[in-house]
Amino acid sequence: MKILFVGDIFGNVGRRILASRLSSLIAEKGIDVCVGNGENVSGGRGMTKNLFRKLRKYGLNVITGGNHSFSVSDKDYSFMGEPHVLRPMNYPPKNLGHGSTIFTLKDGREIGVINLMGRTFMHESLDCPFRACTEAIDELKEKTKIILIDFHAEASSEKAALAWHIDGLASAVIGTHTHVQTADERILPKGTAFITDAGMTGPDISIIGMKPEGVIKKYLLQTYVRFEPSEEGGMLNGVIIDVDDDSGKAVSITRVFEKITPAGGSDDDE
Ligand SMILES: [Fe+2]
Repeated sequence: MKILFVGDIFGNVGRRILASRLSSLIAEKGIDVCVGNGENVSGGRGMTKNLFRKLRKYGLNVITGGNHSFSVSDKDYSFMGEPHVLRPMNYPPKNLGHGSTIFTLKDGREIGVINLMGRTFMHESLDCPFRACTEAIDELKEKTKIILIDFHAEASSEKAALAWHIDGLASAVIGTHTHVQTADERILPKGTAFITDAGMTGPDISIIGMKPEGVIKKYLLQTYVRFEPSEEGGMLNGVIIDVDDDSGKAVSITRVFEKITPAGGSDDDE
């Protein structure tokens, strides 16, 4: 099974890049299933019902989340109950939605997807992602050997520790959140593909998606500054993982890093 994972899709530019490039990339690379992180799709913070539907229409089969899964205020989050949108599994269980799912391809093959969030330099009160991960794998393993994990975390050490901890139990651990693609993709000894961060799909003339002026101002003044999403430049970041259907082990992991400046205009509704 050939899986495309799309790194954090950021705002209007990220959506326009997917609209213009995702379907041709899927065709060119012979992709069977496409997973992407959508927690920044609404102006850089959060996701809405409209945008969830839009990402599905552009070609994503499963959409994962992170620390911004619930960042859009006063919104209807009932879409989080749909099977192919995830929020981190280690949030307190009373939150809407779920942290794992199984997606069935047209040919009947199945992939399990797990979404987790790190605690180091993030929300330290979350449940242990390591325990949550092994429990989720045990559950999904009953149905499929192919399992992909989006570990949304800040610290590279925490992401690597989780990947090594579950090496051989899942097909891939893909780090997200930092918006900077790392060059350390590899297959661990027992067959789990790993990259510390898949990167960002969004405006690259930016500081991790936001206009530089506001971010610099915050560092200089040490006061609250409202960041604005950048509308300049563009790149599509991600990884392609080829997984052996019988064993569930990764055969290869390849980075995708394309510079794409989408045509002008807006992808309208947030
Ligand atoms: Fe994040």
